[in-house]
Amino acid sequence: MSDLGRMGNSSVERTKIAVLGMGHVGLPTALGLAELGWDVIGADSNPETVATLKSGKSWFYEPDLEPLLQKHLASGRFTPSDDVDGAIASATVLFVCVGTPQGDDGKADLTQIESIARMVARNLNGYKLIVEKSTVPAITAQWVKKTIARYSRVEPSLVGKGNGHGNGSQAAKPGKRVRAASTQPYFDVASNPEFLQEGRAIENFFKPDRIVIGVESERARELLEAIYRPLNCPIVVTNITTSELIKHAANAFLSTKISFINMVSDICEAVGADVVNVAKGIGLDPRIGTGFLSAGIGFGGYCFPKDLRAFMHLGEEHGADCALLKEVERINLRRTDIFLKKVRKALWVPQGKTIAVLGLAFKPRTDDIREAPALKIIKALLKEGASVRVYDPEAMPNARHVLPEEPGRVTYCRTAYETATGAHALLLLTEWKEFKELDLHRVRDLMEVPILVDGRNLYDPADASRAGFEYHSMGRDSVLHHFPVLTNVRPAVRRRQAATPAKLEKATTKLRAVAN
Ligand code: UDX
Repeated sequence: MSDLGRMGNSSVERTKIAVLGMGHVGLPTALGLAELGWDVIGADSNPETVATLKSGKSWFYEPDLEPLLQKHLASGRFTPSDDVDGAIASATVLFVCVGTPQGDDGKADLTQIESIARMVARNLNGYKLIVEKSTVPAITAQWVKKTIARYSRVEPSLVGKGNGHGNGSQAAKPGKRVRAASTQPYFDVASNPEFLQEGRAIENFFKPDRIVIGVESERARELLEAIYRPLNCPIVVTNITTSELIKHAANAFLSTKISFINMVSDICEAVGADVVNVAKGIGLDPRIGTGFLSAGIGFGGYCFPKDLRAFMHLGEEHGADCALLKEVERINLRRTDIFLKKVRKALWVPQGKTIAVLGLAFKPRTDDIREAPALKIIKALLKEGASVRVYDPEAMPNARHVLPEEPGRVTYCRTAYETATGAHALLLLTEWKEFKELDLHRVRDLMEVPILVDGRNLYDPADASRAGFEYHSMGRDSVLHHFPVLTNVRPAVRRRQAATPAKLEKATTKLRAVAN
């Protein structure tokens, strides 16, 4: 164990950690903990996932992840295993990072959580701290506790007291020393929600804004504080249900911010204002904050859409009025339609047109396409008889499973420039940095018709217009009236002419003279 992991407490020093579930949350968490000096088993019931990890590769794209994986396979502090029972049996702290997908009714499907609880029950060979990291509805921990107690036949009075003997008097008092591990089978359940963003998971792990821990015992609290202390950030300690709720409330609030700015975006468009500047203007007020105010085609991914529904479901089940969140979801679902309307307006008839699409992932720096707005948009355009040429720096292998290559209809390209070639319109659907850095003049020259519909407000309207595009974006003036665009002119001439309005004017006069 490194210095970071040494806490000067005998029970803590012996602690071994198992992270259960090697997904987008589990793997970065396990590697982060290994980097902090802990011995970590990364358990997953999928042998293929484990074999991939053992070979030093991640099964999904996440910046900075693979070097850390290779480092800790070599240091011996990270051990991938498909023996989940074995991992549970040999560890003291178990971080549960399995999936909580959405059930048919919007409710979170907790099958995998229950299954882990039962596995813990049959491997309860001493004290264990079971830490929920997956996003779960409030009160899930109570069920985890009941399930473990039920299947392991631990006396319910021994659960969650944190002293090994069922004596609640030591519970959650600051400054109390934790006793050495008992051989008696007993356990604590805690909640420690993750706030990792895909594409920034490693960065987020080492520089968290805060750590939230929900505990019922002093022992659980000390263990978790010891684990996270080296990160040197505020630690919010609450009861378990509050901690579970914090995660849902955080995601619901961020989703609300996005839907709010998207609503403002529609108003901006209607009255001729600029939503990017509105976001800046309101965001600099610290009570509002600049983050999560980018208008566009809406939020996707594995968390926001699913967690919003699960939170509403929980609220409604308990009689709370969740109309606000319903509206947040409704606004989000309409974003792709609003974008498609723009595309139709620009193209007039999509049927028979070739549309270039930049970006498939639900956001940049990930290969994740779950609930990606880009895929909904592409499917709608295909239905209307258009063909698509698509490119994403990382998400194409995943996209091929749900959007297979079809000659003449769906073409996967190797670069953004290849994608634009011969297209009647270019749609920007994920704001990857490499798309921001494209040579727009070159892109324009490759296209059949220079229409650019920017679903993420990635480009400066004036730049796009100067490059000769008919440019449409979200909640902003397209500035077409500042820079009239000529079409049906040879590309090289077009580029020069499009450079400034004065040049454009001159070129137009010249063309008119030739025509007359
Ligand atoms: C989210 C939470 O941010 C994270 O704390 C939690 O742990 C998991 O869920 P993630 O799903 O990885 O993380 O992505 P995030 O960066 O939050 O973006 C979610 C979606 O919102 C993306 O589709 C993104 O494009 C969209 N978004 C984000 C906007 O449309 N506008 C914004 O201003 C910000």
